[in-house]
Amino acid sequence: MVNRRVTSAAMSPAIIVQGGKRLSGSIQVLGAKNAVLKHMVAALLAPGRHTIENVPDIVDVQLMERVLRHVGATCDRDGTTLHIDVPEEPNPEAPLDLVRQMRASILVLGALLARTGTARVALPGGDDFGSRPIDFHVSGLESMGATFDLDHGVLHASAPDGLRGTDVFLEFPSVGATENLLLASVLANGTTTIRNAAREPELRDLAEYLMKMGAKIDGAGTSTIEVHGVPNLSPATHRTVPDRLEAGTYLVAGAITGGSVTVENCVPEHLRMELRKLEATGCTVATTESSVTVTGPVGRPHAVDVATLPFPGFHTDMHPQLVAYLSMSSGTSIVTENIYAGRFRYLGELNRMGADVHADGQHIVIRGVDRLSGCEVDGCDIRAAAAMTIAALRADGETIVTNAQHVDRGYDSFVPKLQSLGADVQRR
Ligand code: EPU
Repeated sequence: MVNRRVTSAAMSPAIIVQGGKRLSGSIQVLGAKNAVLKHMVAALLAPGRHTIENVPDIVDVQLMERVLRHVGATCDRDGTTLHIDVPEEPNPEAPLDLVRQMRASILVLGALLARTGTARVALPGGDDFGSRPIDFHVSGLESMGATFDLDHGVLHASAPDGLRGTDVFLEFPSVGATENLLLASVLANGTTTIRNAAREPELRDLAEYLMKMGAKIDGAGTSTIEVHGVPNLSPATHRTVPDRLEAGTYLVAGAITGGSVTVENCVPEHLRMELRKLEATGCTVATTESSVTVTGPVGRPHAVDVATLPFPGFHTDMHPQLVAYLSMSSGTSIVTENIYAGRFRYLGELNRMGADVHADGQHIVIRGVDRLSGCEVDGCDIRAAAAMTIAALRADGETIVTNAQHVDRGYDSFVPKLQSLGADVQRR
């Protein structure tokens, strides 16, 4: 009988890892996916030619380029520099198929409303971590004077008299909702105060770009952001903040092999909680102003408990990589996922490799095992695919991480960078 799983997986892009190599060396990370996607949308706020530097070549950036082209902008890339030419009158409709593929595209809502007084955007997709509503985005924009109508999965937003500054208190410090409100408020009438705002470094970086465009913003990076609306903005040049998730992923990859990996061109401060937890497992951590070196423990890592939280807490997008690493620890760890209700699908894949991990409500109980063994596993989203690869680096024999296209959404040159650190890893 034909095994359906093997048949379909055989066709999917895969990362093939021969485990057991100790990683060592240095790599450089590029700009953060979760910042550059927002910069691309922010460019829509000012007609003319923008320049964004330190841009990774990843699928999500390519998807966002397609979104921008649909609204009338042109994008051209020169290495890691992206030029965006924004028209005087953008088309207020985001392409529905693209928005469904990428959650970040919901931000065109705030930008298009601010620029054109109207926007039509499909309800967004993105990684499947359970329900991911946009109620905070919508209610915040409503309090600024926008009205919404949902028609067959498409949001029609309008603010014919323009958006007005107001006081918004977010129920949760949502990254996307804070960003949407920021994009909407820079051109609004009057002052907008966003309370309980997200404090992520990528959001602060977005505010810095907007300020270069002429926006008046106080408090970005704190939980109260005040935006004084201005009548118009001008194009700007901005270098994207380094990707702390890309950096953290390679550091954990080195640590699980007992090796020593240096990540350059990063901001160690942005990984403070993640580095503290790695240290607690027995890693040695050394930092300079723009680099981090993590040396993995000689034996198995110590168990450690971790709870994901908004910045400066432990990042949810580093949780699968950490769980992969802790699956080899010498004790029992508990990782509590506080951001997403359903980020557990990858656990079953890890268990196929011999791990002993299971979810109990929002808690993941990880009983460390002394060996993992290579097999075929599904890299079901960006971070899960990275986590499976990390586990595979320490597993006996060959692991095939299928659906590896997910990794291309968030990591530029994932396999070549691992190879440069000495991993035996190939792309199929
Ligand atoms: N939420 C609501 N209502 C809303 C908005 C959010 O209930 O209106 C909930 C979400 O369902 C989730 C939580 O609030 O449970 C946090 O969501 P948030 O809005 O903060 O996340 P996001 O903006 O959708 C960004 C990143 C994610 C990252 C989160 C948390 C981008 C494109 N995505 O998503 O990154 O996990 O912040 O830091 O910036 C990734 O890169 O792999 C990734 C998934």
